[in-house]
Amino acid sequence: MSKVLSKKNIVIFTIFAIIAIVFVFWQFGRQEDQGAVKSAQEQTKNRGEIVVYKDKYCSCCGAWAKKFKEKGYSIKEVEVKDMAKLKSDKGVPLELASCHTAVLDGKYFLEGHVPIESVLKLQKENPDIAGLAVPGMPTGVPGMPGRANFETLQIYSFDKEGKQSVFEERKAREIEW
Ligand code: CU
Ligand code: CU
Repeated sequence: MSKVLSKKNIVIFTIFAIIAIVFVFWQFGRQEDQGAVKSAQEQTKNRGEIVVYKDKYCSCCGAWAKKFKEKGYSIKEVEVKDMAKLKSDKGVPLELASCHTAVLDGKYFLEGHVPIESVLKLQKENPDIAGLAVPGMPTGVPGMPGRANFETLQIYSFDKEGKQSVFEERKAREIEW
């Protein structure tokens, strides 16, 4: 009797083992498929056009642009000799100034190291503003890798008259860099 039982146990165990192995392989294959589909989408999707006005010697500006390129934006970099003049000509408020000044889809300014998440929100909501800005040069944002030197980042918006407000706030962990 006990012999029969143990034989039965072995059969049950084997069946479970096979099911478990098949399941693991199936899940693994599925994840791989999803990954491939996702990266193909990211490569082909054109999320928008960004013209980046930057100083020739600014490396973090190029790093910021590269991050957006990886996310499916088409990027054009324009070297500018006098960034301060460009900012004042274009109406970017002095208090919100950073390194580069970018223009998204010929419509919105992106001043400095604006996170990708904020740009996606901007494109989704399409507000009546002139642009977004992250003043100064915080770390822990796209193009400025490293440990964030802030707890909460204020992403400002400004309008054509230079009126400013907080567009959104993000915790460091909510920003991909
Ligand atoms: Cu910078
Ligand atoms: Cu920059």
